[in-house]
Amino acid sequence: MVDGCTVTVCRDCCCGSRTKHPAVDHDAQLDGLRAALEPVHRVRPSLCLDVCSQSNVMVVQPARRPGGAVRGRSGSG
Ligand code: FES
Repeated sequence: MVDGCTVTVCRDCCCGSRTKHPAVDHDAQLDGLRAALEPVHRVRPSLCLDVCSQSNVMVVQPARRPGGAVRGRSGSG
């Protein structure tokens, strides 16, 4: 089991296509994320996350510490 963050990378109808982002090499982007983050963190492609108007979306789920606390910075400061 991975203790780090989980990065969900949308790779569906908009985010994974060159139609909306012709200058983005989506496969290379995913490979680059994996090379930079794994094995400490988990990178997983997903189907549409329902925010196609933004497109090329990634969601970072923070790591959890033992006991359930979320590891990372708070939003204040
Ligand atoms: S395809 Fe990524 S949000 Fe819809």
